[in-house]
Amino acid sequence: MIEAEKQIAAKAALQYIKSNMVVGLGTGSTANYFIRYLGEAVKNEALHTVKCVATSKASNALAREVGLEVIPLNTISKIDVTVDGADEFDSDLNLIKGGGGALVQEKIIASLSSQFIVITDAKKKVPTLGAFKLPVEVFEFASMPILNKLAALGLHPILRKDALGTVFISDNGNTIIDLDLQKIEQPQRLQELLQSIPGILDHGLFLGFASVVLMGVQGKVIEFTT
Ligand code: 5RP
Repeated sequence: MIEAEKQIAAKAALQYIKSNMVVGLGTGSTANYFIRYLGEAVKNEALHTVKCVATSKASNALAREVGLEVIPLNTISKIDVTVDGADEFDSDLNLIKGGGGALVQEKIIASLSSQFIVITDAKKKVPTLGAFKLPVEVFEFASMPILNKLAALGLHPILRKDALGTVFISDNGNTIIDLDLQKIEQPQRLQELLQSIPGILDHGLFLGFASVVLMGVQGKVIEFTT
């Protein structure tokens, strides 16, 4: 059910892609569906001369596997469209992202994109952001002092670990601290606070980035726009 919702949202995002575009590829299971559909569209020549930039090693590898041309971000000056998933979105199309630990690259690529399209299943739509733990990427060598600082601020930090209890390390070699906030009533204020702490690279609040959210639900796609 959820997989079907992700798939139809991912397929619907293809309508935003035209030949000769530079396309940003998100990270995660929904973004993976999009990467596969885009690969098919290029292979069957529905689209041509599409160049891609990837937000993670995993997306880069999948894109190459399905025959897409992936170029380094440093070789281009603009991205036409980026298609990515999200962990939550609200009615203003503000997002929580970073469940897959790729939030730093995802935000950079979103910020350089003329259009940022988000694709989700129906569970991602929330009245208030925060039930999903907010990921924060921090320099590994400062993980514990930053975790203590976030705890002192009442932000309920949890150092991310994998199923075996090993500390999660991002593609950038950093740790992720997840904030168990339940409800983020003032996302802008929280963003300012997190950005003011040295050693925090970035956080998973994507405020004002998304222009469109395509949400799969019960065999249909609902399009939300700003
Ligand atoms: C990765 C992300 C993903 O887009 C987000 O976690 C959603 O993943 P999925 O499509 O697997 O539900 O932000 O850092």
